[in-house]
Amino acid sequence: MQELIDRIRSWEAKSQVLEPEQEVRNKTLSRVSNYANAFLNTLPEAKTFVSSEEMSDRFDITGRPHSIEEILNIYRKEIAEKGINAASGGHLGYIPGGGIYASALGDFLADVTNEYAGIFYASPGAVALETALIDWIKTLFSYPSGAVGNLASGGSIANLIALAAARDKHRIKGDKIKKSVVYLSAQTHHCVTKALRIIGLEDLLLRTLPIDSHFRIRPEALTETIAKDRELGLNPFLVIGSAGTTDTGAVDPLFEIGTICQQENLWFHVDAAYGGFFILAESAKHLFKGIELSDSLVVDPHKGLFLPYGIGAVLVKDREAVFHSNRAGADYMQDAFREDLPVNPADLGPELTKHFRGMRMWLPLQLYGTEPFAACLEEKLDLTRYLRIKLADLGFSLGPEPDLSVTYFWMDRGTESDAFNQHLLKLIHDDGSSYFSSTRVEGKFVIRSAILSFRTRISSVDSAIALISDCLVKTQKHFEKIS
Ligand SMILES: Cc1ncc(COP(=O)(O)O)c(C=O)c1O
Repeated sequence: MQELIDRIRSWEAKSQVLEPEQEVRNKTLSRVSNYANAFLNTLPEAKTFVSSEEMSDRFDITGRPHSIEEILNIYRKEIAEKGINAASGGHLGYIPGGGIYASALGDFLADVTNEYAGIFYASPGAVALETALIDWIKTLFSYPSGAVGNLASGGSIANLIALAAARDKHRIKGDKIKKSVVYLSAQTHHCVTKALRIIGLEDLLLRTLPIDSHFRIRPEALTETIAKDRELGLNPFLVIGSAGTTDTGAVDPLFEIGTICQQENLWFHVDAAYGGFFILAESAKHLFKGIELSDSLVVDPHKGLFLPYGIGAVLVKDREAVFHSNRAGADYMQDAFREDLPVNPADLGPELTKHFRGMRMWLPLQLYGTEPFAACLEEKLDLTRYLRIKLADLGFSLGPEPDLSVTYFWMDRGTESDAFNQHLLKLIHDDGSSYFSSTRVEGKFVIRSAILSFRTRISSVDSAIALISDCLVKTQKHFEKIS
């Protein structure tokens, strides 16, 4: 026995480093905090994009301990200084996230206390807090109090949860799959079709609906297509609307689509992952009229609330449908899974053990209130208008006025337009002080701007315009030389 006790004590001594004393904790924390401050203080001058195609080998697990200084050094050189600097206000590509500092502090608390946020019994406080956040989102979108919601890791998983619920509500399985029809548009985010594949609906029929000149679904086309499909003996069951398309910032006519779905008894899902929080902006509220008619919706706090990556929310009106996909019991969970307790987040999504993501959202909302978020979103809409005016002054052609903060532009050079704009974007990327991405619209290569970072200010747009202007002159010279 004594031998066993001695051995246990020796293991304890060897692993004691995992529980540092307060003095060591403070020292390490101050190093990390100093690093974060240096990063944030130099962010305005830092590159937004540094192309790097090599895979670093500096992360190898050698088994030996390293100092925090050594680790932070690797972090800076191999992570923070490579690729897209997603914390930078110069990030105008893809859908910029945010990274407000208060969220990092929320994560810090959630991680130190290590709340088990999937189960009410384990962490009633964490679950109550996340439920309060879901209730707030329900109020924003005029969802009924009986709806359920979940804080997932992002928009893709949030969409997947909603689509699984739609599948289970309409019992799309077996032979029924091949006859079932989903309606969407060419602007629908690709995570939707990916989710349909993941949930076993690869073989159903997809109808890509026509869109108007502003990239919004034409609702009359929806009615016609449903009627044709019913005549063919098919089973229409799901319509996907977007409130903020990724490519063009368009909001589909939600009221019209929602009304058709109610008449036709179809599940109406709205992907508002990018655009949803613009409902906080007074000037954009009207665009969301009819979103309350949807059966499910997705909205990403790591986009429109400027939180760090890793949080997307889903709301679903029919809780039984969500339970059908996600509720499962086990003997070892008998203490925790009790009918008399509030609903567990684990019953509303695929995760059992769940990061306490609510804390990164709740802390900033409580600390600042909602007004600064609304103001920041209004600012993004106005900055998009400002950017478009500046681009037009430089001679660029512009896509149609977007509903939200994503827009696109190109220099019209006839048959050499694609090559010209590709060259221009390459020069912008090589410089890296601002970052834009590209897409294709009706087959044409265009440069795409998405203003959503809370750090994108008028000065960021002015710098981006100066960079574009400089690269434009160089591109023109390059094309003069080769023609
Ligand atoms: C409209 C839309 N839906 C879904 C997604 C996917 O979200 P996530 O990248 O958080 O998984 C995105 C991402 O940009 C999006 O813009």
